[in-house]
Amino acid sequence: MCGIVGYVGTRKATDVCVAGLKRLEYRGYDSAGIAVVEDGKLEVVKVVGKLRNLSEALEETPLEGTLGIGHTRWATHGKPSKINSHPHVSNDGRIALVHNGIIENYAELRDELKQEGFEFVSETDTEVIVHLVARYYEGDLAAAFRRAARDLEGAFAVGIVSADHPGQMVAARRFSPLVVGIGAGENFIASDMGAVREWTDQVYVIEDDEMAVITRDGIELTDFEGKPVHHEPYTIPWPAEAAQKGGHKHFMHKEIHEQPRAMRECLLGRLTDAEKSITLEGLNMTEEEIKRLRKVVFTACGTAFHAGLVGRFLMEKLARIPAECDLAAELRARDPVVLEDTLAIVVSQSGETADTLVALRELKEKGASVVSVVNVVDSSIARESDGVVYIQAGPEIGVASTKAYTLQILTIALIAAHFADVRGAASEHELIELRRAMLSLPEQAQTLLDREDEVKAVAARYYDSHNSLYLGRGVNLPSAMEGALKLKEISYVHAEGYSAGEMKHGPIALVERSLFTVAIAVKGDVYDKMIGNIQEIKARSGPVIGVAFDGDTEIPRQADDVLWVPPCPELLTPITVAIPLQILAYHIADMLGREIDQPRNLAKTVTVE
Ligand code: G6P
Repeated sequence: MCGIVGYVGTRKATDVCVAGLKRLEYRGYDSAGIAVVEDGKLEVVKVVGKLRNLSEALEETPLEGTLGIGHTRWATHGKPSKINSHPHVSNDGRIALVHNGIIENYAELRDELKQEGFEFVSETDTEVIVHLVARYYEGDLAAAFRRAARDLEGAFAVGIVSADHPGQMVAARRFSPLVVGIGAGENFIASDMGAVREWTDQVYVIEDDEMAVITRDGIELTDFEGKPVHHEPYTIPWPAEAAQKGGHKHFMHKEIHEQPRAMRECLLGRLTDAEKSITLEGLNMTEEEIKRLRKVVFTACGTAFHAGLVGRFLMEKLARIPAECDLAAELRARDPVVLEDTLAIVVSQSGETADTLVALRELKEKGASVVSVVNVVDSSIARESDGVVYIQAGPEIGVASTKAYTLQILTIALIAAHFADVRGAASEHELIELRRAMLSLPEQAQTLLDREDEVKAVAARYYDSHNSLYLGRGVNLPSAMEGALKLKEISYVHAEGYSAGEMKHGPIALVERSLFTVAIAVKGDVYDKMIGNIQEIKARSGPVIGVAFDGDTEIPRQADDVLWVPPCPELLTPITVAIPLQILAYHIADMLGREIDQPRNLAKTVTVE
């Protein structure tokens, strides 16, 4: 996830681009860069780190041009560095390009282009696009991109300028977001409308496989064949002040809503077709090593620990490998015995959590090989692991983890399904069904978000309770723990996540009218038992919010309220179930007027043990 902007008009392009990028910094802050066309030449400034470094660099090297493109980067291919920063420039220095997305076939394209004599300077997937455009360029930038697009597989939103065309910018999209801001005597491009809201409230929302050729006075929209397309301008419904959060009241809300797109990006290049095997670049394990595995140990903290607990389940059920999951802060205390051929899977959004890093080192020292499931590229945990599978969630800013959680589970599910495939632990039919269900998850996530108002109405009925119990069994016990964690950390309402089977051994004593219970009762192995648990609570006058599959007729009879989720294989339900529980926690906290993005006493990244 990166942010792109572009400007053509009469103002200084750097001023507009830097201000626009500031609104996009939530999309990444590993590095930033800008290219401006000035006096028939391309001028490029790039820096590592946050945008203020770019502003400082531009103070030293001011650029006066009125056509420019800018980028703020969230590293996916290649570590954060000046060389890997965008814009990327063609070998003759005449064409510059910024990109958000992932080019899946970049390795083949790079080999092909290298053979033709193109020189690559970065480790990025993006650089192939600019060389492809240069390869096809015969004086018409848009035509060159159109031809290049035919060779590209994957996701992209791009902005392109050329020194030969001082008044023109080309922009295009496939899967990654892109808008064209409509001004008077000036026009803009950006990854989201928030970035252009300061100057205009009119935008074209570009769709997949569409592009725009933009000048000061004109915007020409076409498909990739060059056929004109028509869009009505969209009026941005919120004021400029709300821009950075893209119109959302809180980053947490925004990040909850980013899940469908983030899931899609997480699957890109790894699982494209249910009939085909999963490929995981970065895992760094041979088939022999996967077959030899005798044990998998997950370790993590907080929300990532809950993802690890789901992982333990997936690893045993799917890949039939004995698995454990340990809290990172506790792992060292028991001096764990590490068997030969043990794989440690270390889960962390930030990749910097001190307890998790210490646990990783401990397991490594004891002979385990380590694969990490991490969001932040090139973070300490990623660097110290033997293999790393990035969750590709983009920056998560809200302290309460949301999209990182569902993507951690999705990534672990990809690993477990891959192991099951290699080890022959599941039938081809089972694997195809599972992969098909994984491919449907982004759409199911969108369905769940579309039901936000229903969940909000439930939140309104319970927000003034002081106590709550979240119950689940099997693969959804971690969902109960995560649901409770979400509620307590942002609303300060006491919430206990517990095994529904264990409830009768203690917590049932808490049940009374003023304590509400969230019972996860989606169809699967433990469904009947969950119904029994709901009845036990109802018999003691406790209100129950059931979480059930669409179409279930039993749960609405038993529970006071229901949060509905679309059906999917039980093993994947922790991903879908998480979303209404995030929304419930969010709205309860909002109704209580809490500081949702920065709850008291908490930090996003905890770098002390
Ligand atoms: C903190 C955050 C949590 C997060 C945990 C682990 O407590 O507030 O949201 O789950 O750290 O962080 P990590 O970056 O390792 O996933």
